[in-house]
Amino acid sequence: MTLADSPALTQDRATAGSRPQRQPLAGRTALVSASETARMRTLGRELAAAGRRIANMAAGELDTPLAAPVRRAAIAAIEAGHNRYTDTSGLPDLRSAIAGLVAEKTGLAWTPAGISVTAGAKQALFNAAMTLIDPGCEVLIPCPYWTTFPTQIRIAGGRPVALDTTATGYLPTPAMIRAAITPATRMIVLNTPNNPTGRVYDAGLLDQIATIARDHDLWILFDECYGALVPAPAVHINLLRLRPDLRDRVVLVDSFSKSCAMTGWRIGYLAAPEPVIRAASAFQSHTASNPNVIAQHAVLAALTTGRAELDAFQADIRTLLAANRALALDILAGLDRVPVRPGEGGFYLYLDLGRLIGRRFADGSPVTDADAVAERLLGEAGVASVPGGAFGDPRGLRLSYAIDGDDLATGLRALVATLNRIA
Ligand SMILES: Cc1ncc(COP(=O)(O)O)c(C=O)c1O
Repeated sequence: MTLADSPALTQDRATAGSRPQRQPLAGRTALVSASETARMRTLGRELAAAGRRIANMAAGELDTPLAAPVRRAAIAAIEAGHNRYTDTSGLPDLRSAIAGLVAEKTGLAWTPAGISVTAGAKQALFNAAMTLIDPGCEVLIPCPYWTTFPTQIRIAGGRPVALDTTATGYLPTPAMIRAAITPATRMIVLNTPNNPTGRVYDAGLLDQIATIARDHDLWILFDECYGALVPAPAVHINLLRLRPDLRDRVVLVDSFSKSCAMTGWRIGYLAAPEPVIRAASAFQSHTASNPNVIAQHAVLAALTTGRAELDAFQADIRTLLAANRALALDILAGLDRVPVRPGEGGFYLYLDLGRLIGRRFADGSPVTDADAVAERLLGEAGVASVPGGAFGDPRGLRLSYAIDGDDLATGLRALVATLNRIA
């Protein structure tokens, strides 16, 4: 199979050329297109399945086996015959265990009533958007952003307002936040460590943003899904530990997807003031109901009897990621015209392709944008990446280094060769 035959690409062409749909679809379908990160991940997998050697740096997940206590507890939960609905917001024991985790992270007393267990962080974020955003509300989102944030805000009827951080080291400044606030602003989304840039917000910046949010009466949606994956010397700072005075306006979102290598199992959570949890849970009760019961039991065991093992698993992952990151940066130092601004956490590297756009590939065709580069990298270098259009930045390219070290090295060497051939 060649790139041109790929179902993921031909499907787009087929849709584009098909007859208009006669029975109308809802207007809101125009607000949503399939996630670009998912498309690139699928494209990489298809080519690999067809026999091509592909370094799949498009996926937003660890390329490692599942954390052992999670696997064992899931098997035990199946054997124990757990097959029923649970409470919408999760098993009471799991909510208690997560409340304990949140108390550890924030340094604040936390009760199960302040926790809702969800099908991954994505559902937690969606429930939060539905709960906090009225039609017409503006929501500030530092850009590049994880592609789902603005889409969910739009679905909730709000207006995402992107804060361009490409000239400020991929971090927002207090001045740009203040300048973007209008009477319609309801919320700011903070994601640290950041997807796609890997940047980790330091205490000084978080403190200033917190003060702005308090002064302008804003909610802060704080997504710390990669918080367990910050290697020393960088540190992940939980916003409420830094600013406990903001407890009534901060909504924390976290998940076990990235930190336990269990993206497919779908367990995340919302930690927030109780009225938010009650309202978010009501939405969930009419959409997904409870998250998967076996996955809930598995996470419960990992947080209780399996906790020491889980902590050791995460420490090993941090070591592995730090080694991959060093390897990747070493190879990418060979790029001629592409600056790499290494983030401090998570498992992504983000390239600024600005100085390549407008030039020509080795075969003479124009480098129009990051999409063109990503397609070329897949076809020529066997590297699946995610172009920045998905993150609101058509000049950027995201690479995950959470893959096998040999694939990473081979893929990145081929990537450097391809990009350096751009004349
Ligand atoms: C910043 C961020 N938040 C949330 C999620 C969703 O995580 P989950 O798989 O737990 O739904 C992702 C997944 O890529 C992410 O990058």
